[in-house]
Amino acid sequence: MATGMLYLARRSFRSPLARSLFASAVVSLHTLPDLPYAYNALEPYISEEIMTLHHKKHHQTYVTGLNAAEEARSPTMQCKGISTTHFFWRNLAPASEGGGKLENGPLKSAIERDFGSVDEFKKSFNAKTAGIQGSGWGWLGYNSTTNKLEIVTTANQDPLITHTPIIGIDIWEHAFYLQYKNAKPDYLNAIWNVVNFKEAERRLEAVAK
Ligand SMILES: *[C@@H]1O[C@H](CO)[C@@H](O)[C@H](O)[C@H]1NC(C)=O
Ligand SMILES: [Fe+2]
Repeated sequence: MATGMLYLARRSFRSPLARSLFASAVVSLHTLPDLPYAYNALEPYISEEIMTLHHKKHHQTYVTGLNAAEEARSPTMQCKGISTTHFFWRNLAPASEGGGKLENGPLKSAIERDFGSVDEFKKSFNAKTAGIQGSGWGWLGYNSTTNKLEIVTTANQDPLITHTPIIGIDIWEHAFYLQYKNAKPDYLNAIWNVVNFKEAERRLEAVAK
């Protein structure tokens, strides 16, 4: 509750200095988990500058939004072993540590089954996600009614509650603007080079029947 109010208050600041001081204060109220890799580890696809700002200043909004998602899905989410605070950062992995590589296995098979091919999946994901007006997230989600993968989008920091998240891509400006400016499609094309498909596969295996 308090976090939500702080977040709203932060949004109302107009001066960048006030905003950044406030952002630091918000972060310090909570534990900021370490990134599972170095700030420059996703270069050249995501710059060190973006990762640093994103992790240090914007991370709190994830914690807030994902906690809400966890509450909404509770207790299912906890049972699936997805740690909310690490969800986003573990979505991505340095290319040198397997980021971007989708090996043969249950996830690749499911993507091919539900989208035709991996390329078709990425194309369709990027088109839908680039179409988000303003801030939001693009998701590869698991539909537990049909046991199929679907592409879903959410606005702002709204949590994904209809599907189990398998991959989530941040389409807030702070996630790409410093490097890609308004070229959302370039950001979306690049990010597949650092998507942590191994982690995505673990998430799928935790829920798929
Ligand atoms: C899951 O798929 C079914 C069948 O297409 C659809 O009716 C339902 O809305 C989907 N569930 C969600 C949460 O989108
Ligand atoms: Fe973000």
